[in-house]
This record gives sequence, C-alpha cells and structure tokens, in this order.
Amino acid sequence: GRATVRLDPAFAVGPVRPRLFGSFVEHMGRCVYTGIYEPSHPDADELGFRTDVAHLVRELGVTVVRYPGGNFVSNYRWEDGVGAKADRPTQLDLAWRSVETNQVGTDDFVDWARSVGVEPMMAVNLGTRGPSEAVELLLYCNGDPGTQWPDRRAQNGHVEPHDVRVWCLGNEMDGPWQMGHKTAEEYARVAEETARAMRRVDRDLELVACGSSSRGMPTFGTWERVVLERCFDLVDHVSAHAYYEPLDGDVDSFLASAEDMNRFIQSVVATADHVAAVRGSDKRIMVSFDEWNVWRQQGFDGESSLAVREAPELIEDVYDVTDAVVVGSLLATLLQHADRVSMACQAQLVNVIAPIMTEPGGASWRQTIYHPFALTARYARGMVLRPAVVCDRVDTAAYGPVDQLVVTATLDDTGEGGADLTVFFANRSRTEPVELTLDVAAAVGAAPGDWTLVEHLALYDDDPTATNTRLEPDRVVPRPGGARTEGDTLTATLPPTSWHCIRLT
Ligand code: AHR
Repeated sequence: GRATVRLDPAFAVGPVRPRLFGSFVEHMGRCVYTGIYEPSHPDADELGFRTDVAHLVRELGVTVVRYPGGNFVSNYRWEDGVGAKADRPTQLDLAWRSVETNQVGTDDFVDWARSVGVEPMMAVNLGTRGPSEAVELLLYCNGDPGTQWPDRRAQNGHVEPHDVRVWCLGNEMDGPWQMGHKTAEEYARVAEETARAMRRVDRDLELVACGSSSRGMPTFGTWERVVLERCFDLVDHVSAHAYYEPLDGDVDSFLASAEDMNRFIQSVVATADHVAAVRGSDKRIMVSFDEWNVWRQQGFDGESSLAVREAPELIEDVYDVTDAVVVGSLLATLLQHADRVSMACQAQLVNVIAPIMTEPGGASWRQTIYHPFALTARYARGMVLRPAVVCDRVDTAAYGPVDQLVVTATLDDTGEGGADLTVFFANRSRTEPVELTLDVAAAVGAAPGDWTLVEHLALYDDDPTATNTRLEPDRVVPRPGGARTEGDTLTATLPPTSWHCIRLT
C-alpha cells in the first residue's frame, strides 16, 4: 500500500537517551565463558577477554551493560568472583544448573566494560540474599578505602572505586522460576530496605526496582503498584522485561510485537504516575526496559531439566530476517518512548539470544539482529520526533489491526554542517510492499533543496528466513535501499518484511 509520513521538529518526544542502546551480560550458557572471555583464544588480551568480540561490541554501539544476571544473580555470591583466580571456588549455579568457575567476577567485568567503553550496570541478589550483601557489594565497588570492603578491592588491584552508578534491586522477583521468588509485598519490603541501606552509602545512586517479567504475568500492574507504593521515594526506575517469538507459527502477530512493548510501556508509566498522583508527587519514575529481544522460548524446556555442565550451549537462537525486522521495530518503539524509558538492554550480548556469536577458539560473527541495533545506535542522534503516519493496517490475531509501518525519526541540528535527519522504518507486512512518500522540507525546517539524501540502508531478503552463520556470516547485511528525492519529497519502495535506515542532511 501507500504511506505518507510527515515529520516536524515541533513534534518532539525528547532527546535520544544513549542508555537506550544497552545490552546484558549474564553468567549463563556461553555469554561470559567462550563469549566475552576465553583466555585460551588466540585473540584474547592479557586479562583473558576476546578482542574479536570486544571489536564487535564497540561496532554494535552498546552504551551500558547489565551484569551479572538475570536469573543467575538471584543465587549469586559475588565474593566468590573476586580475588586471586586460583582461589575462587567453583559453585553450582541453580538458575541454569551450570558449573560456575567464577573465573570472571565483578572486578573482571568492570575492567572489561571500561576497556570496551561501556557503562557497567550491576544487579544485586535479592533472591537468596538481602540488604547486607547488597551493601557489601556496593561498598566493594564504590567505597573509598578505609573500611573492609573497599580495602579488599584495593588489595585485589583496584585502588580507584569502580563508581557504578546504576543498580538493579534484584531480578524478575515476580517470576516463580526465580530463586527466592517473592510476592509483591515481600519484594517491596526487601527492595525498600535494600534501597534505603544502599542510599546510606551513596545518596546519588540510580536504583531500579523490579517490575514485571512480562506484560502477561498474572501480577502485572498490581506488582508495579505495590512495589512503587513502598519504594517510590527510594528508586528512580522500574524495570520491564519482554521476549517475543512467533507463537504457534503466528508470524503476523510476531511482526507486530512492538504493539505489546508499546502497550507495556504505557501501562507501566500509567501505574507509576497513578502512585505519584495518590502521593501528590510530581516525581516521574522512569522505565528501565532492561531485558528485551526475540527469544524462541517455545523451544526451551525450562531450567529444571538441564544437565549440569560448564558453559553449556543454552538458548543460542539463530536469528533470521523477520527477527531483525522485529528487533528494528522494538528499537523504534523504545525511541518513541524516550520521554519515559530511561534505559533499555537487549538480552543478551553474546551467544545467549544474542547479536554476536562465537565459536570456542574460533570465529565470531554478526547475527541478522546485529544490524538494526548497530545502525540505530549509530545514527539515532539529537531529538526523537513523533511522526504522523498514514498507512495501511495489517490484521493480527494478538493485537487486532496494526499499522503496516513502524516509523521513528531523529533530528540533530547541533552540528556545524546543518541538520542530520535519520528516519527508521519497519514494514511488518509479509506480503505487501509500501510505496513511501516523506515530506522532508517540513522535517528539517530548511529551504527547499537545502538538504540531501546521504544514505538509504535496507535489511530484507527474498527469503525472510535467511540467517547468518559461521560459514556464511554476511548472508544478511544492510544494502542500498533505492530511496529517491525530488524537490521536497523523498520516495522509496519498502519491500515486505523489511527494515530501513534513511539518512538526510
Ligand atoms: O535472558 C535470559 C533470562 O530471561 C534471564 O536470566 C531472566 O532474567 C529472564 O527470564
């Protein structure tokens, strides 16, 4: 069908928040071991981290990385992962029934994060542990020398504090699969007391309370209300997690997954603002969407049936073109909520439902979903604009009729050489192309002809199930998309199941 898109700098959502391009490293499967860390790999650095993977992480444009879990954190003893590597105990991780050698721990992760230029974001264990261990970890990371835990960090070779600013108060505590799963009231109390104690150490921390593990949780909505009623004054963000897959082969609904994310964010914001209203407060709690991705969970039997192994291959989903289009549309949705979503972490970074894959001792490569993330992180700059879109609708079983096109745009007019406008599109029809018309002059506020098309990159394929593999790592890559400009109008044909990045200056 035909689509017209209008953009105007007067209709701005807010500035692009760099932390929307976050990721997640969990001690799970091969994310850490043979993922970011593999001392025996030919490309390992002196600390044992793979430089080939570090290179791909930098190119991906990741800004903040959440660590060390995920479900893992809810039975983690952080003390096991610091100090001389030879003295660190091997433990059984109950979250994934895996052998944890503790060869990577807090100091190692922060060293890695700093070396690849990302901000570390830490989670504390509120499953099997509580406020006291959380405060000890905080002191270990951020404390000034003179007391036990900061001194221990200095003895372990890190005299300067790690200065970790963002802390998650547990992980998915609403989920019955979680070690130490809690009711909303139970979690709210322990999160409140942990936050209060952590703020005694450092008033200015950014604290994230656990929200819901998905919009479909039976406690969704009530959980957020109960937790925020207790923790409102003590936390800055509430988390949201969501994973999407074609359920029972329903690809049309899967392509419309951004609808779920959109409604999820709106509901969490409404709930947080309700709590604010009742308290007569103008404080705005932000949403930390700190786990999101495509994950074919229907193919995963669950944790309890896993054989106990070290660094096992766990949920190493191979992503296709359709998955990349969904990921692109989810990123666009996060940007459209940049006024209330403060952070977002794609889960996870390497091997485990990840944009980056590795072979132990061997190659590393980019999955299809790597490309929309990398291009969005690179070119979404300045202000997010709220587009006016007129397009056809696609019928979906899960969400009803939805717009065929997902659109977001950013405008950066801070540079010397005039304005940069980038528009991202996802065509989520499996059968219908879109004949796109974009009025550019209004968008950049420039005189007619005072702008140029820099680049149109498109991700699509005759085969929407095409993937990238070790043997064919660049089977699916962005390619020139064929947008044209005439006067003030940009036109392009957007094929079915496709994602696009169009840049103008
Ligand atoms: O990312 C995989 C798992 O998904 C995480 O450990 C957990 O938080 C979520 O359920």
